[in-house]
Amino acid sequence: MDQEGFEAVQYLEDKRAWLLTTRHTAYALGLNEGGQLLHLYWGDRLPYPADYPGLGRPETYAVENGALRADEYPAWGGFMYSEPCLKATFADGVRDQVLVYARHRQETGPDGLPVLVITLKDSFYSLEVDLHYRVVAESDLIVRWAVVRNSGSEPFDLKTALSAAWQMPALHDGSYRLTHLSGRWGAETLINQNLVTDGRLTLDSRRNMSSAEQNPFFALDVVSPTAPGATEEAGGVWFGAIEWSGNWQITVEQVSRPTRVYVAGGVNAFDFSWRLEAGEEYATPAFVGGYTAGGFGQASRNLHRYQLDHLLPRAHARKIRPVLYNSWEAVLFNVTEAAQIALAERAARLGVELFVIDDGWFGQRKDDHAGLGDWYINQEKFPQGLNPLIERVNDLGMDFGIWVEPEMVNPDSDLYRAHPEWVYHFPNRSRSEGRFQLMLNLARPDVAAYTFDWLDRLLADHNISFVKWDFNRAITEPGWPEAPAERQREIYVRHVLALYGIVDRLRERHPGVTWEVCASGGGRADLGAFAHFDQCWVSDNTDPFDRLLIQEGYSLAYAPKTMMAWVTGTTWSAGPGKAGPSLKYRFHSAMTGSVGLGENLNHYSEEQMSQVAALVEEYKGIRHIVQEGDLYRLSSPRSSHLTAVQYVTRDRAEAVVLAFLHSQHFWQGQPRLYLRGLEPARLYTVEGRDEPPASGQSLMSLGLKPNLDAREGSVLIRLRAVAEV
Ligand code: DGJ
Repeated sequence: MDQEGFEAVQYLEDKRAWLLTTRHTAYALGLNEGGQLLHLYWGDRLPYPADYPGLGRPETYAVENGALRADEYPAWGGFMYSEPCLKATFADGVRDQVLVYARHRQETGPDGLPVLVITLKDSFYSLEVDLHYRVVAESDLIVRWAVVRNSGSEPFDLKTALSAAWQMPALHDGSYRLTHLSGRWGAETLINQNLVTDGRLTLDSRRNMSSAEQNPFFALDVVSPTAPGATEEAGGVWFGAIEWSGNWQITVEQVSRPTRVYVAGGVNAFDFSWRLEAGEEYATPAFVGGYTAGGFGQASRNLHRYQLDHLLPRAHARKIRPVLYNSWEAVLFNVTEAAQIALAERAARLGVELFVIDDGWFGQRKDDHAGLGDWYINQEKFPQGLNPLIERVNDLGMDFGIWVEPEMVNPDSDLYRAHPEWVYHFPNRSRSEGRFQLMLNLARPDVAAYTFDWLDRLLADHNISFVKWDFNRAITEPGWPEAPAERQREIYVRHVLALYGIVDRLRERHPGVTWEVCASGGGRADLGAFAHFDQCWVSDNTDPFDRLLIQEGYSLAYAPKTMMAWVTGTTWSAGPGKAGPSLKYRFHSAMTGSVGLGENLNHYSEEQMSQVAALVEEYKGIRHIVQEGDLYRLSSPRSSHLTAVQYVTRDRAEAVVLAFLHSQHFWQGQPRLYLRGLEPARLYTVEGRDEPPASGQSLMSLGLKPNLDAREGSVLIRLRAVAEV
């Protein structure tokens, strides 16, 4: 029994059904007379089991909804024409699965959360699937994954093994609307919304990373004559995200009359195959799903809390992210001991806590043509190694961090000259270079061992507290000619598992180190990464206005604490030769996540140094609210000339609002900001304003004037609850 008086997992034996209950939602599934597991309900939590449509009437479980039967985990076989979660080829060539119920059990996960495991088995062959449901009751989420097992003596091949299928409630009026995140390099995680129409739409990546082009997240809401669609604050939203950093797919499929929509997702079935020998198991990554009646804002907050409370590596999950400096935009590959020390000295004066050296410190790395793979310290740039720089950084009171790109090699490197067989390649085909580099085959145990060893040595020999792990090209010619033919397509999964395994082992051996995931920016912004890395480099686009759009989309799924944002001099959105937004605006834009500095600090005047130091100080005063609190998107850059976001601490005692103008014509006033998430009856003061405290309810109902100075274009408003008397 949960503290709130409900069972998160119930088996209703007489009904041959299961009911999963969270704080506000319920999810039901049951067996039909043939022992097939069908989906019954996903939506608001209702008072009585009898309230749930279909539950308690097992005969209705057999109803087929047109061509799209509401199977909980559809396997390809029989009258099955929609996207399957499972497709296998047995040793005798049979390619048809009939999954029926075998047994179920309840477990407690390592984090104490309940997990329901329902085992289905093929009616003839020795294929079993354990469907896992981990119930995150306080965040209204269900984490689903599947484990496929060969319980016989003949091998078989998995051709598709997705994590889960989410069946949406049937619609009798209106349409589902799909919200997803897509983009490209420099413009990641932009929000797209389209009505779902009949047919099958697949969002995916085939690039061996989750990718900048599509992000493994979806949300669905309903648009109908009586329901105009969910807003930030209200309306039903069903959503999900895959915990995977490699090839993935989310297929949204609709059949009509009544409209049924189904979302299947997991590791991309494209070019996938996995051999299961007798006794072997294959575990899919998890696909997290949730429903909320509280609009897109609540969907995001539920996902964010899940990341902070359960997913992010525990050692650092609840620690405040330090303000870092990264020299990439300042000096590119031109990192030398003297120049880095000069930057470090200025960074320390600004209040920076972590000094990070980016690309260029190793091998013969003068630019991007050479050096990847040769992870020895470049003697010309650092004649006595990195330790003199690290010691100086530490003496200045900062931690030291380093950039690496372990999965790549330049053909112009000692490593590649010694091991040309270590990269993905096909015989009789050229090896396409991206950024003059090739991708190492991490599926090979020798490559994974080499990678672990040099990183382990680097961390053992230096006082390094932070690693930025980069990945700068997508896969081509994905061959592994030395592997048995039936295993060659396992590379996509094996690569990601090896990546996670290396990071996890390094974390065990070097527990003080925090890890940033990066793939030319946000190419690996995904929940899979956040089970192993602490934060994410969101985009190489550091323009403070562009970032508002990129960050808005990012925040739909991913927690602000993970969202690294540097303050730089980039002015892409202002246009060539234009000055671009003020320093304050740049800081405020970055302060909506975890702040870094990225400009050439040598270019700051003394006046700017003081201004920056004050802004860093200001951020340190509010970052616990941003990084640990709940996010409310008050006004979107997509629909307003003013963007505003608000963060509220979990105890609702503190809040901060960051607001930005992005165009101001004389007829446009400044809209009031209707705050959210405050305690209605509590009184709050607005820092720096000579106004009496206002109740939370009045700030939410009547709003607050942003008082934006049009020349500066942004404002930070801090609110504190008045101490109880
Ligand atoms: C791509 C990253 O996104 C940048 O921040 C920088 O680290 C470069 N790679 C270095 O090559």
